[in-house]
Amino acid sequence: MKLSIVGTGYVGLVTGTCFADVGNQVLCVDNNQDKIDMLLSGQIPIYEPGLERLVASNVEQSRLKFTTDIKQAVEHAEVIFIAVGTPPDEDGSADLSHVLAVAKSIGQNLTEYRVVVTKSTVPVGTAEKVRVAIQAELDTRGVDLEFSVASNPEFLKEGAAIEDFMKPDRVVIGADDERAVGLMRTLYAPFNRNHERLIVMDIPSAELTKYAANAMLATKISFMNELSNLAELLNADIELVRQGIGSDPRIGYHFIYPGCGYGGSCFPKDVQALHRTARQHGYDARILDAVEAVNEDQKSVLLHKIDRRLGADLAGKTFAVWGLAFKPNTDDMREAPSRVIIDGLLARGAAIRAHDPVSIPEAEHLYQQADQVTFYDDPYDATQGADALIIITEWKAFRSPDFDRLKSQLTQPLIFDGRNIYDPEALKGLGFNYFGIGRSN
Ligand code: UDX
Repeated sequence: MKLSIVGTGYVGLVTGTCFADVGNQVLCVDNNQDKIDMLLSGQIPIYEPGLERLVASNVEQSRLKFTTDIKQAVEHAEVIFIAVGTPPDEDGSADLSHVLAVAKSIGQNLTEYRVVVTKSTVPVGTAEKVRVAIQAELDTRGVDLEFSVASNPEFLKEGAAIEDFMKPDRVVIGADDERAVGLMRTLYAPFNRNHERLIVMDIPSAELTKYAANAMLATKISFMNELSNLAELLNADIELVRQGIGSDPRIGYHFIYPGCGYGGSCFPKDVQALHRTARQHGYDARILDAVEAVNEDQKSVLLHKIDRRLGADLAGKTFAVWGLAFKPNTDDMREAPSRVIIDGLLARGAAIRAHDPVSIPEAEHLYQQADQVTFYDDPYDATQGADALIIITEWKAFRSPDFDRLKSQLTQPLIFDGRNIYDPEALKGLGFNYFGIGRSN
């Protein structure tokens, strides 16, 4: 099939590339000329394992093309995905101006039947707004044309996006006419093998499904983080509690890891946006409110532990930080707990020596004004002469470090672990003062 993807950000690029990889003719469009030039020269503006190679091979096979010309994208394909950004505006709701601007351009250029699919995470009711925006342009032009709108939310995890796309748990399709459903079924047939993964529903339900999934996952995390704080007060170990409850299949082991808070481009934004939508409809979503509040507080839990151990005036102290990205296998630092922790340490007068396997360029950009923050490509260079090590992201490479070396490099054997990657007893045996999350310490 032929398809067009508008927006070459994370979602658009992964979606377009994966559809091309199964044999479709995909045209990706973006109004950012620099981005398109970069992609045409074989460079990928984001870090996602496997994506660069997949883009290159599909470009080489001429299945994946890039342009800045939206008219061409509308002409090219019967199915057009909108995958542009929906950043939160000042009050926390998703800013739809990019989505609706694309809808308008589609309406201006439509000459025959098309399905316009919203792929970006958009509030319930957006597909309808897209329909209205396209229709308004057709009315202005005085043309009478049939088109469909559909919602097809993405459930991609950063760092595993290609795998998630190629082997989806489910493909949610919101549509209200058979023609659109038929085209979407054909498009997803290569990913719908062995058992039925397509869940077809009305458009508002599909739009809400995306928010419900992310809000549920964020709720699990905040619930565990709340319990981890309680566990500390009760001299219990949250890691044992986690195993104790995860063994119940109704609860499950996934997404119940306590830590120093969730971050990223999805959970914080989506919980806020859903909360806002509820309020706009006169409903006070108390659980969502609490999920967000607990998460904000959780990002400071390590700072409070540091205060208790070393006092709140940290002038003259230096901290080694391992892990800056909001989670492993990405360079993304949006809403990352590391930012709250680093800012808190700087405010207390401390200096930072930071290491991350991939997000140093991102962090250098964020902290270009902060001369108290220095970055090291080697994790042990970061610990040299530091007064404590703080672990914020659970990269695999941090799991089994050379503890003797750490001990000799730190001014004192002190570790604050925001992801519980070490065994407290083992660390005690090695002579460390070790502080995790939700464990008696
Ligand atoms: C998420 C959803 O998983 C994905 O389906 C959706 O499409 C986009 O949002 P992503 O933001 O890439 O994906 O990250 P994810 O792996 O879900 O982790 C989110 C955050 O939760 C990270 O900061 C992670 O550290 C934290 N987390 C996750 C925990 O603190 N504990 C857990 O048990 C799981």
